[in-house]
Amino acid sequence: MQHHTVTFRVRPGGTLKGEARVPGDKSVSHRSIMFGSLAEGTTRVSGFLEGEDCLSTIRAFQAMGVTIEGPVEGRVTIHGGGLHGLKAPAEELYLGNSGTSMRLLAGLLSGQSFDSVLTGDASLSRRPMKRVTDPLRAMGARIDTTERGTSPLHIHGDSRLKGIHYDMPVASAQVKSCLLLAGLYAEGKTSVREPAPTRDHTERMLTGFGYPVERKEDVISIESGGKLTACNIDVPSDISSAAFFMVGASIAAGGDLLLKHVGINPTRTGVIDILKLMGAKIDILNPREAGGEPVADIRVRSSQLQGITIPEELVPLAIDEFPVLFIAAACAEGETRLTGAEELRVKESDRIQVMADGLRLLGVNATPTPDGMVVHGGPIAGGTVESHGDHRIAMAFSIAGLRASKPITIHDCANVNTSFPTFVALAQSLGLTVESAEETVS
Ligand code: S3P
Repeated sequence: MQHHTVTFRVRPGGTLKGEARVPGDKSVSHRSIMFGSLAEGTTRVSGFLEGEDCLSTIRAFQAMGVTIEGPVEGRVTIHGGGLHGLKAPAEELYLGNSGTSMRLLAGLLSGQSFDSVLTGDASLSRRPMKRVTDPLRAMGARIDTTERGTSPLHIHGDSRLKGIHYDMPVASAQVKSCLLLAGLYAEGKTSVREPAPTRDHTERMLTGFGYPVERKEDVISIESGGKLTACNIDVPSDISSAAFFMVGASIAAGGDLLLKHVGINPTRTGVIDILKLMGAKIDILNPREAGGEPVADIRVRSSQLQGITIPEELVPLAIDEFPVLFIAAACAEGETRLTGAEELRVKESDRIQVMADGLRLLGVNATPTPDGMVVHGGPIAGGTVESHGDHRIAMAFSIAGLRASKPITIHDCANVNTSFPTFVALAQSLGLTVESAEETVS
C-alpha cells in the first residue's frame, strides 16, 4: 500500500531574527471548545489553534450535536447547549493524535446519559489510559479498554457518578482535568491532589465561565449542580510552540527574536526558567492579561548556554519542551542532566529514546536513562533522523539545523500539523532554511 509522508530538510547554519506571533495555545484551545459546548449561550473564541488536535475536539463536539462555526482565522463561535445538552454521537469519536481530547473527553463522557466510543491513531492507541479509567471507575464510571488499558475506550452512559478524593500518582493536568469534568456530573464533591503543580487552564477557564472551582494548596475540588455561562476567550500564543524559537534564537549566532502575546501562565514557564539557568538571554516584556491567562512579549537573544542539572520541580512545568531543550543541551558547554521525567516515555512517542537516538545519529553524546537523559554539549553533524510521527521531535530537530555542520533530514513530520501547522513557513520567515516535502512511499 502507498502512503504519504512528510519529510523536512534543513540546511545548516543561519540565524533567527525578527518578530513573530506563534499560533494559539493548544491546551487553552481544546478547553475553549469543551467548556463553550457545555456553557449556556454563545462563546466566541479568538486566537484558536487551527491544528489537527484541536480540530479533533471540534469534530467530536459537532458529532455530539453542538453547533460550532469556524475556525476562520482563529475565530470560533460555539453555541453551547448547557451541561446536559450533548447528544449521543452516531459513530465512534475519532481523536487522531490528541491525548488531551481523549483523556478529557473520557471524564466528560462518563457523566453522560449515552454510550460513546473514543478512538485514535496508532500513537494515541498506545498511550496509557488507565491513569484516567482507574479513578473514573472509582467514581462509578463504566469504561472498557483493551487488555493493556489502552483505547478504544467504550464508555457506558447512565452511570451514576459519585464524587471521590483522588491522590494523583503522576503530575498530570490531563488526569486532573478529566476528573474535574467528571465531577461536573458526580454526586457531591470531587477533589484531586496533585503531587506537583501542573497546568491550571481547566481551573482558570471554569472560573471564567462562572463555575466555582476551589483550590486549597495542592487540592483542587469541584461540586456538581452549577452551570457554565458563555463568555469570550482570547487564546494566547502557545509557549510550547514559542519554545522552539526561544531555543533557536539562543543557540544561533546573532539570534534576536521578539515573540509576541505568549502565554506565560506560571504552570507553563518551566522552559524559560530552565533556559535562564543555562544562561539564556530572555526578557519578559509588557506582561498583561488576556482571557484569564497572563501573557507577555518575549525577547530572546543569542547566548552561550551552559550545561546544568535540571531541577526536578521544573519538569512538569516544561513537560512538552524537553525535545527542544535537549537540542539546547547539545549546544551548551558541558553536561546537562535531566531526571524525574519518566513521563516523557509515554508522550506522542517515547521522547527520551527517540531524542537520544536522533542526537546520537547527529554525533551528539547523549545517554538516555530510565527517567531522563545526560547530554554533553558538542558539535552537531548532519544526518537523517526519525521523528516517529511526533510533532515536537520533528520541530526540535529542525531547530538543531541552526548549529549543524551539514544538512539534517527529518522523516515522518506530518504531525507537526497537530500543534503548529504554520511552523515551516514561520521558521523560514525568521531565517531557518527548512523545507517540507510530501513523498509517496510504498
Ligand atoms: C496537557 C497536559 C500535558 C501535556 C499535553 C497537554 C493538557 O499532559 O503534555 O501536551 O492540555 O492538559 P499531562 O497532563 O499528561 O502531563
